[in-house]
Amino acid sequence: MAAARGEFSSRFGFLMAASGSAVGLGNIWGFPTNTASNGGAAFLFTYLILAFALGYPALMAELIIGRHTRSNAVAALNSISTGRKSQILAMGIGLVGIVTVSLILSFYAIVSGWMMAFFLDPLARILGLTGFSEWLTTDTELRNAIFVVIFMVFTVLIITAGVKDGIEKWATRLMPSLIGILVLLILYVFTLEGAMDGLRAYLVPDFSRVTDPQLLINAMGQAFFSLSLGVGTMLVYGSYISKDENLPVVGALVALLDVGIAVLAGLLILPAMYVALASGVEIFDDTGGLIAGPGLIVSVLPALFNNMGAIGILVALAFFSLMTIASLTSSISMLEVPVAYSVENRGMPRPKAAIIIGIIITFTSLLIVFNFDPLFDWVVNFTTERSQPLLSLFICVFAAWIWRRNEILDEIRHGSPEAEHGLFWKIWPFYVKFICPIAILAVYFQ
Ligand code: PFF
Repeated sequence: MAAARGEFSSRFGFLMAASGSAVGLGNIWGFPTNTASNGGAAFLFTYLILAFALGYPALMAELIIGRHTRSNAVAALNSISTGRKSQILAMGIGLVGIVTVSLILSFYAIVSGWMMAFFLDPLARILGLTGFSEWLTTDTELRNAIFVVIFMVFTVLIITAGVKDGIEKWATRLMPSLIGILVLLILYVFTLEGAMDGLRAYLVPDFSRVTDPQLLINAMGQAFFSLSLGVGTMLVYGSYISKDENLPVVGALVALLDVGIAVLAGLLILPAMYVALASGVEIFDDTGGLIAGPGLIVSVLPALFNNMGAIGILVALAFFSLMTIASLTSSISMLEVPVAYSVENRGMPRPKAAIIIGIIITFTSLLIVFNFDPLFDWVVNFTTERSQPLLSLFICVFAAWIWRRNEILDEIRHGSPEAEHGLFWKIWPFYVKFICPIAILAVYFQ
């Protein structure tokens, strides 16, 4: 079985795949809007601290367990368990992780479908297909259903091709394009009137908000969602890293890329919103806060692009290609979790597993599309606010309380022979053992 497992061919391949998982709608949409509605840079600082103090140690727990066990989340937690009870817990955590990540993908595919529709819209307008353009940008169940299916087909196709020829190949193509497009868009938006007001709204801190429990909860939720933690994604990607790789370093690079791109996205979204304001678009909701929900992406920004004239078509194309790329590199990492389990624990061939699970998730998405109001928010909140942080807590418990400490050190020593003398080994075990679980619980029960 081990021989048939995939492996990333290089550090760059892993970095692109893992940061591709981490960088998604959560960074480009969630982070900037969370920042704007939670006291600007006060949120940014809290987020940075939480991402490195809680997110990074939890990420490392997943990467280390994954690479050591070389298996999917269920099998991995099971194999580091030391007794019957912990094996049962391992099974439970692994399976709840699979269900959670599948549910995340089922709502993520809907939003990603909107991004694809808005990406096609400028092309339709270039071709003069006004009716089609209208259909693409009007929120209907039919449009949403069709684009869920299209998006899931892409996701399944990439996962069917495997770790190296699917995930790594596409992530190494798409991620550099994402960064390039993001930087170009920022540079362009900075030249427009109103951008500096947006920059101020983003970067001037309102420190009276730092002690607000809601800010802490939002920042923690954002950090765990953004780093794709708890649901086994990073554990599975960790299981495909070469034994020669220095894990603390590659983990830190993934966290840095994730946080860095979120901060960059803030430099785009907030200034763009204030540019929209300067051009007459309403950017505040009834309560006086910035529009942050779907309205931001599907009405405020498109209204801005429309006001820009001909260049607006190009800007819209660039922006929605950015969103589509970000979605796709995240969604493939989500699908990989149940697929790896089905291949390794259930003996299914990869293409069959990818197609069957892809169909089940697509049906779940369609169920949400056709029952949007009662289901969508519930699924989002349940998976990202309830399930993900708790699962992450349990993975930390496995790494620090159940797994043998010398085995962890041995694992880190691969690729980093001096590990036990380094800073990481002095701090991390204590962190995942005490600080992470207590902090997650504290914020959770707020
Ligand atoms: N990290 C992704 C984002 O920020 O959009 C979302 C995500 C990907 C969550 C993979 C969970 C996951 F397993």
